Amino acid sequence: MKIKVMLLGPPASGKGTLAEYLSKKLEVPHFSSGQILRDEAAKSTPLGKKAAIYLKSGKLLPDDLMLSVMQPYVEQEHYILDGFPRTLPQGKTLEKIHFDLILLLDVPPKVVIERVTGRRTCALGEHVYHLKNNPPKREGICDVDGSKLIKREEDTVAVAKARLKVYAKLTLPLISYYQQRGVLRRVNGNQPLYKVFEDAYKLISSRS
Ligand code: AP5
Ligand code: MG
Repeated sequence: MKIKVMLLGPPASGKGTLAEYLSKKLEVPHFSSGQILRDEAAKSTPLGKKAAIYLKSGKLLPDDLMLSVMQPYVEQEHYILDGFPRTLPQGKTLEKIHFDLILLLDVPPKVVIERVTGRRTCALGEHVYHLKNNPPKREGICDVDGSKLIKREEDTVAVAKARLKVYAKLTLPLISYYQQRGVLRRVNGNQPLYKVFEDAYKLISSRS
């Protein structure tokens, strides 16, 4: 399907998990700003070294830097975009791009903490699991590519709380902005995965 979808939501609300599903189902690429930065950090590039400091603290990278990192991705024809934009200035800069759907995954803070602490990601960074909610078939091994599962360094209660604060201060104004313009659709992210997928897919199929 030829489509541009933007996913918004608090930390660990399930954006990456939903994006992976939609990317396969709709056959469009998934671009995660966080994953792009983690890949750069793993390679110790100049951008990665800078990003690593922000990733560890849960703070956001400066808007102008983030816009230049994401520009080549947002200019592509079709994708699921996860994690960008997440501030009002970032959103306003993207205004000339038409998104077929802007989806907000609603998840309460308490659930965020539980998801962060149980999350495991594959060493290649693409596939996400949860020890209780979405375990791999073989303990510690990614179902898809057989790589080792790791815990993200920043997946601690303290960093999750810091990310929630940043979300309230910098991302909620962007959400209000989209809401006022009537372009935002909400999905209850606090339900079983299959139901989140089903609700999101319904919104995509029935978009006007
Ligand atoms: P980023 O990687 O985008 O972090 P985030 O927004 O905090 O989101 P996460 O990736 O932590 O969670 P998610 O919503 O993808 O959830 P997931 O699917 O993994 O950004 C990281 C950092 O990069 C930022 O802090 C910042 O420093 C920087 N950055 C990135 N973008 C930026 C930008 N635009 N501007 C400036 N800086 C930026 O799921 C979480 C867990 O829950 C998993 O274990 C999963 O298995 C489980 N789960 C998912 N769905 C369900 C469900 N329905 N039921 C039960 N469990 C579920
Ligand atoms: Mg993610």
